[in-house]
Amino acid sequence: MPVAEHKFKHIVILTGAGISAESGLGTFRDVDGLWTKVNLEDVATPEALARNPDFVHEFYNARRKDLLTAEPNDGHRALARLEKESSGRVLVVTQNVDVLHEKAGSENVIHMHGEMLKTRCDECQVVYDWPGDLTSRTPCPECAHEGAMRPHVVLFGEMPFEMGAIYGALAQCDLFISIGTSGNVYPAAGFVEEVRRGGRAHTVELNLEPSEGATLFAECINGPATEVVPAYVERILGAPS
Ligand code: OAD
Repeated sequence: MPVAEHKFKHIVILTGAGISAESGLGTFRDVDGLWTKVNLEDVATPEALARNPDFVHEFYNARRKDLLTAEPNDGHRALARLEKESSGRVLVVTQNVDVLHEKAGSENVIHMHGEMLKTRCDECQVVYDWPGDLTSRTPCPECAHEGAMRPHVVLFGEMPFEMGAIYGALAQCDLFISIGTSGNVYPAAGFVEEVRRGGRAHTVELNLEPSEGATLFAECINGPATEVVPAYVERILGAPS
């Protein structure tokens, strides 16, 4: 594949649930979003997991099944193409717990909110690939402890993963693209301001509609991810350096 020369040397792309919406995975805060049907305090906090582990496991078991069959769409594929064909470094920082960026071919991906197809033992901290169900009695394959296995996802109130690497990349980037995220959840919602403080990066939002923080971006393009992401990637790869 020929490498396309363009002026951006470090591209950071933040993705949210909107990029996977057209792959059939629901978003959180749209009119029919997950948090309009389920109380997040009942399933997505450490307190809920401690209080009612089987209820929380059932919720994540069902979501894990949905993720297993989901396929990437043209938005994910366009970002994989950007990574392969770009002369610059491309990092995808995703809030999504699905594996659709990887299925599309992206290799440089940070899952800041974890991965649903992985589990972790809270006792020995070993992380496993885990396509099946979990219960409150599932023993850890490593330490055999029962009751400590949990989805390897970040619950509300917990620290997202790899924040040092993410802030390092944001400090270096000359193009920051935010795709399919409502800008409600920090620290991800604050990345655009972090980049703007550096003062040298172009900032772009690609979203179905203007997000909470849309005015913080230098450029906003609204439309479905399967259309606006491939068009934007084409524009970058086609632009002279
Ligand atoms: P949200 O559900 O908050 O926002 C999804 C965004 O995607 C909205 O702004 C939609 O307008 C947009 N959208 C919907 N369909 C789209 C499409 N086809 N193309 C482009 N954009 C589209 O989801 P997130 O911002 O990802 O965290 O939510 C952030 C975090 O809140 C999640 O990672 C999760 C959630 O609670 C945890 O669980 C820790």
